Amino acid sequence: MPVRVLHQLQMVVNYLKLGRWMKQHSFAIPKRVRTRDEVFNAVAATVRDKRVLYLEFGVFRGASMRYWSNALKHPDTILHGFDSFEGLPEDFDVNGPYTKGTFNVGGQLPQIADPRLRFYKGWFEDTLSTYEVPTHDVLVLNLDADLYSSTKTVFDRLERYILPNTYIYFDDMSRPDHEPRAFSEFMAETGKTFELVVADSSLNSAFFRCTG
Ligand SMILES: C[S@@+](CC[C@H](N)C(=O)[O-])C[C@H]1O[C@@H](n2cnc3c(N)ncnc32)[C@H](O)[C@@H]1O
Repeated sequence: MPVRVLHQLQMVVNYLKLGRWMKQHSFAIPKRVRTRDEVFNAVAATVRDKRVLYLEFGVFRGASMRYWSNALKHPDTILHGFDSFEGLPEDFDVNGPYTKGTFNVGGQLPQIADPRLRFYKGWFEDTLSTYEVPTHDVLVLNLDADLYSSTKTVFDRLERYILPNTYIYFDDMSRPDHEPRAFSEFMAETGKTFELVVADSSLNSAFFRCTG
C-alpha cells in the first residue's frame, strides 16, 4: 500500500483516538469553527486589549506570529517566538511526510515589523534555560512544534507560569502521540485543569484555558 494511503488511514484512526482523548479528559467543545484563523479569532477577541505575553514555540516562516502581531493591540504586549529555524529535531510520524529537518529555513528569521516582537533562535532546551519570563497580565502560549519531546520541554520549563486564565493553543492535536500526549502528562503530573475554549472542525487546532 502506498505510504500516502497509509498516512490517510492513520489520520482517520487518529481522529477517532482524539475523540476518545477528549472524552477521557471530559473536554466538551463549546465552539467549533472552520479554520485555524477562526480558532485564533475567538481568543484574540478576549485578550486583544490586554497586556499579553504571547510565546510561540515553532515559528517556521512566521505565519502565526504575523497573525498575533496584528491581532494584539496593547502597546506593552510582548511577542516572543522560539525556533531552531533548522527544522524538526527528529521524525514526526512513522508513515507521514514530516521527517527530521522538515521546516528548515536555513536559520533565516521571518521579517515582521513590530517592535514588540523578538525571536529566540535555537533549540527550546537551550533558549528556555536562560529565558526570563517578562511580566504580563495574560499569558498565551502557541505550541506548534509538532513533536512530543519539544512540547514536553516547553511544559517542563514553563510549568510555574501556567496559571488560571493562561491560554494554550495546540496546532497538531490530530497526532495523539505528540502534543496531546505531552498535554495529558502535564495535566496528570501537575494537577492543573483546563477547559477547551474553541476548536476547528478537524479538532486539529484547539485553544484551551487553564481553570485551576
Ligand atoms: C509546524 S512548524 C511551525 C509553524 C508556524 N507556527 C506557522 O504557523 O507557520 C514547527 C516548527 O517547530 C520547530 N521546532 C520543533 N521542535 C523544536 C525544538 N525542540 N527547538 C526549536 N525549534 C523546534 C521547527 O524548526 C519548525 O519550524
